[in-house]
Amino acid sequence: MADRFSRREFLGAAAGASLYVSSATAKDRSVEPTIVIGVMGLGRGLTLARSFGRQPGVEVRYVCDADQNRASNAASVVSKVVAGQNPKPIQDFRRILDDPDVDLLVCAAPDHWHGPATILACAAGKHVYVEKPCCHNAREGELMIQAARKYKRCVQMGTQRRSSPGTMEAMKRLREGVIGRVYLARCWYHSARGSIGQGQPAPVPPHLNYDLWQGPAPRVPYYDNRIHYNWHWFWHWGTGELGNNGVHSIDVCRWGLGVDYPTRVTSSGGRYRYDDDQETPDTHTVAFEFPNECAITWQGLSCNRHSGGGKFVMFHGEDGAMEVDGGGTYRIYDARDKLVEEKKSRDTGEIAHIQNLLTAIRTGRPQELNQEIEEGHKSTLLCHLGNIAHRTGRTLNCNPRTGRILHDEEAMSKYWSRQYEPGWEPRV
Ligand SMILES: NC(=O)c1ccc[n+]([C@@H]2O[C@H](COP(=O)([O-])OP(=O)(O)OC[C@H]3O[C@@H](n4cnc5c(N)ncnc54)[C@H](O)[C@@H]3O)[C@@H](O)[C@H]2O)c1
Repeated sequence: MADRFSRREFLGAAAGASLYVSSATAKDRSVEPTIVIGVMGLGRGLTLARSFGRQPGVEVRYVCDADQNRASNAASVVSKVVAGQNPKPIQDFRRILDDPDVDLLVCAAPDHWHGPATILACAAGKHVYVEKPCCHNAREGELMIQAARKYKRCVQMGTQRRSSPGTMEAMKRLREGVIGRVYLARCWYHSARGSIGQGQPAPVPPHLNYDLWQGPAPRVPYYDNRIHYNWHWFWHWGTGELGNNGVHSIDVCRWGLGVDYPTRVTSSGGRYRYDDDQETPDTHTVAFEFPNECAITWQGLSCNRHSGGGKFVMFHGEDGAMEVDGGGTYRIYDARDKLVEEKKSRDTGEIAHIQNLLTAIRTGRPQELNQEIEEGHKSTLLCHLGNIAHRTGRTLNCNPRTGRILHDEEAMSKYWSRQYEPGWEPRV
């Protein structure tokens, strides 16, 4: 194929549109045309930069972070540990979008960046690997789908269990009816997070471009206890534990039940453990009902590791139950609760998920993505709805064809989207 097409013709045509035509040379790492990538956000993104960089036919050209220290560190780590890679450390991700050789943006910046950066990347002709949750609010998810369609790009959300062989097999068994009609999926997350204390306004560290870090989010003063990582627990940038970790197991529940959008969402919980600056619940129970009489429940305890038995996902069917863990091990129980089968696995799908995206880009078949943005949006939306139910203190009734909230104008107008920093409003 590389003989018949230039690299850019091939990769542009891959998703149905030839956006650039150049004869950029591929490194001789494989017979495939090279996919050039830039990675944005280098906490989680450092792991992704290494993993992408180890795949044949991938060039990690940029590692980008608003924090110059993280960018420099990532460039040095990737060059050292991944043979043949020597990425440039940069602070502004728009340099990635402006480079016509770049095929793929990997976005692992904080949640408030996922939607806007994905939309800008699609418009610049880039494919996107966007970390979960795919967006900060529901409207952004809708726009991301529109952008992927309009610019014919492959957009994969980083819920890697969609590519875990054990989990895929378990879902196939459910579909084949191994426990009969499945009507309830329960899932959990437990951790032992500490307090983030009470932050103080502070000078922005010289190595951080706080303006770029904030990007689409309206400007607020810098505090000393929010960057890095703790932004997860502020609505201004994050989506709480539900969007942070709930999305992984809720996505598997939705997959196993074969459902899309809910009819009803309820939430209970709060900040029960620490009296600190965090806004999002540390103890949270959410329930989602779907058409055809089935439901999902999620229980998150951010500050207590004791699981009480329920660890990742449990499916309940008319003829038994199936337990699935985060590594793809599954256990099947018969109607009398006797363990009848166990299949062990310890592969979360991390590498296969990346390979699935690279293949879809090369073959031009976004429909073969294991977590195409539309499916990613549906699972992320459940997290947003759970958070909206929490914030309004009300049960939400939803349109099962779109997930949009019915008969609650305040919930829609206040929480479906967000205010943007002028100039950063996402548009498709
Ligand atoms: N799929 C998974 O298993 C998995 C695991 C961990 C994290 N994640 C996701 O990855 C994302 C990042 O999480 P994290 O734990 O690494 O957070 P983090 O705060 O440690 O790292 C985010 C990084 O993004 C940088 N950043 C912010 N704005 C930027 C910009 N405009 N350009 C470039 N870099 C920018 C920050 O400076 C920071 O270094 C989250 O959305 C999280 O949910 C996914």
